[in-house]
Amino acid sequence: MDYEVELQPGRDQTEESLVVRHADGTAESFRLHEYGRVYAIPGLYEEVVQRRLLSASATVLAERLIACAAAAGIDPSELAVFDLGAGNGVSGAELRARGVGTIVASDGIPEARDAALRDRPGLYAEYLVGDTDDLPQVGDLIRKHALNALVAAGALGLGHISAASFHRLWTAFPPGAWFSVSLHEDLAEPGGSDFGDYLAGFEEREDGGRILVREPFRHRLTMAGEPITYVAIVARKARG
Ligand SMILES: C[S@@+](CC[C@H](N)C(=O)[O-])C[C@H]1O[C@@H](n2cnc3c(N)ncnc32)[C@H](O)[C@@H]1O
Repeated sequence: MDYEVELQPGRDQTEESLVVRHADGTAESFRLHEYGRVYAIPGLYEEVVQRRLLSASATVLAERLIACAAAAGIDPSELAVFDLGAGNGVSGAELRARGVGTIVASDGIPEARDAALRDRPGLYAEYLVGDTDDLPQVGDLIRKHALNALVAAGALGLGHISAASFHRLWTAFPPGAWFSVSLHEDLAEPGGSDFGDYLAGFEEREDGGRILVREPFRHRLTMAGEPITYVAIVARKARG
């Protein structure tokens, strides 16, 4: 790593920022949520989010999905996952490390795909760039790769992927499909966000499914060292 990083706490998660001092004496400052700038610097996301802020979402979601599948008699190699808001591949790498074969990714920004191809070549069978609603090829991709699970690690709420967009994607998955997602505990409550409301009505709707896991966990630390609690949610569609 030929740079040093200073963390600058903010009023909330979306305000936190970084100063990166490069070996050539230049420095740049940007918010952690400016993902394009974070991914553009090799190793920066892993250094800040995983190593210093101890992010756990990608690991927890992979573990819970695989445990639920195992309880249903399904081997990780039988899971074929769509990694939504995949970033530079941290979430995909956690799935692969546990034996998931096929993984297809999407992210809203090209810098995420470029970083995943740069840092984890071969991890993803395909990597789509664009907002999920603007990716008409997703239905075909789900069929082509026989995708049967949807993972979104740290990618829902906070101006990221909306519940309506997530649900449209979910309806494209086959009977018996799984999802494993994480979001801030406040946003997961009814009235807390569009996602909280979506989850509250999820089991009642015909095109929803059954929630198998709903577990609070420490998603990561803030830059000030305070824990941020997210909820891991694993659900499965009826097998039809
Ligand atoms: C906190 S990062 C998580 C990345 C990865 N899942 C991980 O576990 O490291 C959130 C990602 O969601 C992506 N994202 C935000 N809004 C999106 C959208 N509407 N469609 C697709 N990706 C989106 C961001 O670009 C960013 O890469």
